[in-house]
Formats: sequence, C-alpha cells, structure tokens
Amino acid sequence: MRKIIAAGNWKMNKTPQEAEALITELLPLVNNDDVDVIFCVPFIDIPVAIEMLKGSNVSVGAQNMHFEDKGAFTGEISAKMLYECGVEYVIIGHSERRQYFAETDETVNRKILQAFANELIPIVCCGETLEQREEGITLDWIKGQITNAFVNVSAEQAKETIIAYEPIWAIGTGKVATKEQAEEVCKFIRETIAGLYGQEVAEEIRILYGGSVSGDSAPELFAMEDIDGGLVGGAALKADFGRIVNYNK
Ligand code: 13P
Repeated sequence: MRKIIAAGNWKMNKTPQEAEALITELLPLVNNDDVDVIFCVPFIDIPVAIEMLKGSNVSVGAQNMHFEDKGAFTGEISAKMLYECGVEYVIIGHSERRQYFAETDETVNRKILQAFANELIPIVCCGETLEQREEGITLDWIKGQITNAFVNVSAEQAKETIIAYEPIWAIGTGKVATKEQAEEVCKFIRETIAGLYGQEVAEEIRILYGGSVSGDSAPELFAMEDIDGGLVGGAALKADFGRIVNYNK
C-alpha cells in the first residue's frame, strides 16, 4: 500500500519571517499520520523551516539544486549543502525551471543522480503543454521525459523516487485536470516505470498529480488508483493545505 504524499511547493514565496508565520498557521492543520507531508520552501527559508518542524510530521524539501558537488557555480546550491541543513527532499525539473532556467532532461537526470548520492529524495516533475495535449502527443512526451530522467538510476533508487505529473496547462491556472485525465497519465507513468524496472518497482514508486490542486479537488484525485498524492502550489500557502492533507477525514 503506497502512502499518500501531500507536498507543498512554495515557489518564490515567503521571506523567512513570513515562512515562520505560515508554518505557525499550518502546523496544527497538517497533522495526519496517514500522509507524508512535505514543505518545499525557498532556500533561504530552510533553516527556519527545519527548526520549526523538528519533531513534527512534516519534512522539509528544496525546490532545486545543482548537479555538481561544488565549485565555481555562482548562485547555486549543492545537494550536500541541502543535506547538511536537514533537507530530505528536492524538487527536480519543475516545468518553471525547464521554461525559465534552461533545465533539460539531461540536467534533470544529473540532478537526480546527485540527489541520491547525497541521500536526498528527488521529486521529479514531468508534464505536457496545452499544445502537446491538443496534438495528442502527451503520452509520448511523458515517456521521453521519464525515460531520460531515469538514465543510470538504479532500481533501488527508482523505488524511492517520487514522480510528479504536472500538466503545464493546469499549473497556476485554476484549471485542474479531471481525475480521469490525471489518472490516465499517472497510470501511464507507472507502466513506463514497469517497462524500465519491472512490476515491483512500479508498484512501489509514488506518483503525484500537480496543477491547481485544492482542498475541494484533492479527495477525488487522491482516490484514483495511480495517484499517490499531490504537489501543490498556490493552495500550499494557505489554510486550504490542511484540507488537502486531511483529504481522507
Ligand atoms: P498550483 O497548485 O499553483 O497550480 O502549482 C502547481 C505546481 O506547480 C506545484 O509544483
């Protein structure tokens, strides 16, 4: 039985002081032992989040990292730095990073390998544009993204990896995919993983849906066979996230 994940992607929101206020507000609302709860906060908010969430049911994630160990990469953050701060998860290959910061399937793959080398669990994003969906090439596109992401990733690592299917047309638009649309692609991702690693890994890997998830839509999405939770943007910054975490109550 795969445990449901409710991960918040705060994106570029909340100063450390604001993060403190938001965590104070959210912490009493996100207590649900049936769910793995993760706050993926901006780098600068990591220390305050780690400190405040110590001993709670909430883990801290980052939103990006570099694929090299260290060196002359001005402005970048390494996996080792994140690990030493107490970070457990890292989002890799979010569509906003692919769109605005030249993230490619190759850098996504290198970052996944680097995350595992430093005991971080990657939350690997994939998703199609509206044009790709309308052209009918969604599944081919997703298969390419997943296959490229997992090059040289071992079966043991693949089991631990979290995949987030985030159709770009549903991100920040209020236009949530229907549960059938989301399930179709998440099921296809699981089949793709089965093709790469076999049935056992495919049964264990957790696949999230992301794109305008809210307290209203979470229960029906998370009830789908191949959807193991959500990666949540806007709604993770408000009390609604508590409803998402408690989707089963
Ligand atoms: P929204 O929930 O704001 O649509 O964002 C989704 C997302 O990009 C999470 O990574």
